[in-house]
Amino acid sequence: MTDRYAVVGNPIAHSKSPLIHAAFARQTGQDLTYDRILAPLDGFRATIDEFRAAGGRGLNVTLPFKLEAFDYAPERTERAQAAGAVNTLAFDGTRCLADNTDGEGLTRDLEKNLGAVLGDARILLLGAGGAAQGVILPLLARKPQALVIANRTVTKAEQLAAQFAAQGPVRGSSFVALAGSMFDVVINATSASVEGAAPDLPRGLYAPGSLAYEMMYGKGETGFLAQARADGAGALADGLGMLVEQAAEAFFVWRGVRPDTAPVLARLRAGETP
Ligand code: ATR
Repeated sequence: MTDRYAVVGNPIAHSKSPLIHAAFARQTGQDLTYDRILAPLDGFRATIDEFRAAGGRGLNVTLPFKLEAFDYAPERTERAQAAGAVNTLAFDGTRCLADNTDGEGLTRDLEKNLGAVLGDARILLLGAGGAAQGVILPLLARKPQALVIANRTVTKAEQLAAQFAAQGPVRGSSFVALAGSMFDVVINATSASVEGAAPDLPRGLYAPGSLAYEMMYGKGETGFLAQARADGAGALADGLGMLVEQAAEAFFVWRGVRPDTAPVLARLRAGETP
């Protein structure tokens, strides 16, 4: 029987995940289907239960349900636990394993697709919400020289840094206090670009050859990226590669097979169906 997977969210019509997973399945010869499921805002749990009862094998979870997915599944991987959010569920009989592949997706995109060196790097992570929390553990696992979490509301950045203090050299900061520091990789994990805004950063943050990374995709050159270009960032990137890499990691969790992401990402970048 063909195994069933899906991505659940609200809204969900825009999701590229079905196209990406269909491409992975073709490429690796895996027998599976992957659909979109629109869950009512007050009906996440019922939607999951129904999918499982019908024999579904796994789900990706996207906005606004990543925290509910965390609560849904008490059996969590270490990286899901650290992220405080879940984007991947795997069902096996009565078991439900909760995982989070976002952080691995980001670090793989940075290293493999963009050629960034994270070991010994000075990394600046902007934002202290769910998107930021989801990537801290995998970033620290790469042994950077420093990971600075900077947020408009500084207390949230400080709390987040304290939470991960045992995992590596991480500290919280305000935007203003960044003045005078330089970074090799700057990641925008704020939601500012959703509203067409940009974090209010001091100038001079970008070291020669540095990379500015916007975690969102499909928004063209956001305010953050425009600012980074003007401030001398060596390279600019959006989060499309992270999307493909987090999907590949979920595919690996479910199927034990690692798809080749490069052709899929190249076709998406060209505006083609992968
Ligand atoms: P997400 O799950 O996408 O991280 P979130 O938990 O609501 O969403 O967090 C949004 C993040 O974007 C926060 O760090 C927020 O900063 P505050 O904690 O100060 O609110 C940040 N953010 C949103 N709009 C911003 C803006 N215009 N400038 C700077 N930071 C912004």
